[in-house]
Amino acid sequence: MSESLVPSLLRAEAVVDLAAVRHNVATLRARLTSAELMTVVKADAYGHGMVPVARAARQAGADWIGAAVLEEALQLRAAGDNGPIFCWLTTPGEPLAQAIANDIDLSAGAPWEIDEIAAGVTERPARVHLKIDTGMSRGGAVPEEWPALIKAALEEQKSGRVVITGIWSHLASADEPKSPANEAQLETFTAAVDVAESFGIDPGFKHLANSAATLALPETHFDLVRPGIATYGLSPFGHALPSAELGLRPAMTLKARLAMVKRVPAGAGVSYGLTWTAPRPSTLGLIPIGYGDGLPRHASNGGPVQARGHRRTVVGRICMDQCVVNLEDDEAAAGDEVVLFGPGTGGEPTADDWADAAGTINYEIVTRLGPRIPRRYVNEELD
Ligand SMILES: Cc1ncc(COP(=O)(O)O)c(C=O)c1O
Repeated sequence: MSESLVPSLLRAEAVVDLAAVRHNVATLRARLTSAELMTVVKADAYGHGMVPVARAARQAGADWIGAAVLEEALQLRAAGDNGPIFCWLTTPGEPLAQAIANDIDLSAGAPWEIDEIAAGVTERPARVHLKIDTGMSRGGAVPEEWPALIKAALEEQKSGRVVITGIWSHLASADEPKSPANEAQLETFTAAVDVAESFGIDPGFKHLANSAATLALPETHFDLVRPGIATYGLSPFGHALPSAELGLRPAMTLKARLAMVKRVPAGAGVSYGLTWTAPRPSTLGLIPIGYGDGLPRHASNGGPVQARGHRRTVVGRICMDQCVVNLEDDEAAAGDEVVLFGPGTGGEPTADDWADAAGTINYEIVTRLGPRIPRRYVNEELD
């Protein structure tokens, strides 16, 4: 759907405030003493739109952009981002030559990954960050296999096909800053760096911290931090430490216009399975978005909505394209604007409120918003 077909809020839209993104990037930078900042824009910038967010982040001083998968990194280059980009999730057979030719920093967590990367080199050497699994058991070499990874990387570095530009890992429990797991991972990381140095490696950028660690664990900052969710103004700690207390501003507001308003009598059942029945005569509003747009079906009978300044609730099951809000006795009409979530500063629900209603985390609420919801950017700054 091209933007010109959706000139303004007709059915639904997600308004993304790029001034909020720039503010959040600057706020995160202010937390750092000497470390560089990588803004993580994977998964279409957590649903906010990768290219506009990456541009805003660079404007606010992001030194690096982080992408999970190769398509994302290549799309950033194609959009004209010429700065450092790190991409950490590839599978056998992916077009690494294209990544290397585009100067994208890659990750390797096993000797075979070094071999694949080296095989993709044509002219310039590949820039590689070695990943140590410090305890999360996702990617990376476990400590027992770390020396083998180092040897493979060193060999290719000697051949001139690879340059080791970083050593990195990821924290499993940074959102619980007091968890002993953080200290254990930090120790394993430091030991891995020592081992690498004992092999004569200059580790380059050492990096470990996501948003939670950037905000709460300064000892994990090393040379580079990789915040994602905080860039979007959402707290990695949920309600335990709301974003406003961290000085962050939520960037996304999800709005829709009511497709239908009707008065129903007491006893009227609502939506599939009739899981909600009006206890008294009620005014219902039809919101034209559903789980096909990324609204979580688990928030059926509970998702919060702001309508005409009041906090109201989704009743009945959330369907693929629509859901029903109980407007109680409010005056309302088809075409009225409702807000599903936003920064919360105008009394509207937040992504955290939707996360609570669905039994999930704010990350999932924004990231799952689908392509059927047009993104409208405000406060864009031209380069
Ligand atoms: C490797 C890596 N680094 C950084 C991040 C950013 O994490 P967060 O959004 O919690 O800041 C992620 C996201 O999960 C990740 O997978």
